[in-house]
Amino acid sequence: MSTVLTHVTDELQSIFDRARSVAVLTGAGISAESGVPTFRGGGDSEIWTWRGRPVTELSSAELIATDPQLVWEWFDYRRGMLTSVEPNAGHRALAEWERRFEDFTLVTQNIDDLHRAAGSLNVLELHGNIWRARCLRCASTFEARESPLEENPPRCLACNGPARPDVVLFGELLPDGVFERAEEAAARADLFFVIGTSAVVYPAAGLPITAKRRGARIIEVNPEMTDISFIADVTLLGKAGELLPQFLKERG
Ligand code: OAD
Repeated sequence: MSTVLTHVTDELQSIFDRARSVAVLTGAGISAESGVPTFRGGGDSEIWTWRGRPVTELSSAELIATDPQLVWEWFDYRRGMLTSVEPNAGHRALAEWERRFEDFTLVTQNIDDLHRAAGSLNVLELHGNIWRARCLRCASTFEARESPLEENPPRCLACNGPARPDVVLFGELLPDGVFERAEEAAARADLFFVIGTSAVVYPAAGLPITAKRRGARIIEVNPEMTDISFIADVTLLGKAGELLPQFLKERG
């Protein structure tokens, strides 16, 4: 059973201060205070829907194969929501953590680019990036920042072929090598944070389990208990934007 806390205690602070290798997994909840909707949550685990379809269907390998234009409309809508969004205190605290530890790895399931916007340098994006496109013909990737899209689907800068969002859809594998690096970091870590994720989507949700097996302490930060709470040593119950900066406060 995990210890449930609502603020960073002196004991937790000293665990943080003494950590040598830190890994962090973030999910949609880290961006919630920036105004980005999460996929699930609110107690009943109801999933986000758009035009009456659940995200699991909109962001799916099946739909990109049959109706890529609809997939782009859905991503265009999400890109539109992100254009006016800023990183919050949670993102900024993590960027600062990176500077504090010699071995620090930030792994995110988010595609919104807000960690980098906050100043994080080394970000392992498990699910890709919403501001990147990938050519369906020649597979080259390129930045595609215009919002709304000028053309659907956008055309490849190299070969003019049709492109798709460079994100991982349900039913697809993660990009080569990224998960392996995340797993190595989880295995190395003596402190592993699980922040703002419902921890139901694999393989990402397996990372805290790997870390736990390899001896790391697990600290969860979430306003709700989740599927991973049972392996957490500490669940910090509350908002990331309020809790994460507490680790940076001078005490004493
Ligand atoms: P979810 O929407 O499943 O979970 C968001 C979590 O954030 C919930 O557990 C909330 O309780 C928590 N939360 C809400 N507000 C928070 C706050 N202010 N601070 C901290 N936590 C907060 O999002 P993910 O777990 O990221 O995949 O979802 C995983 C994957 O499912 C996504 O990457 C996406 C999605 O479908 C793909 O698109 C492939």
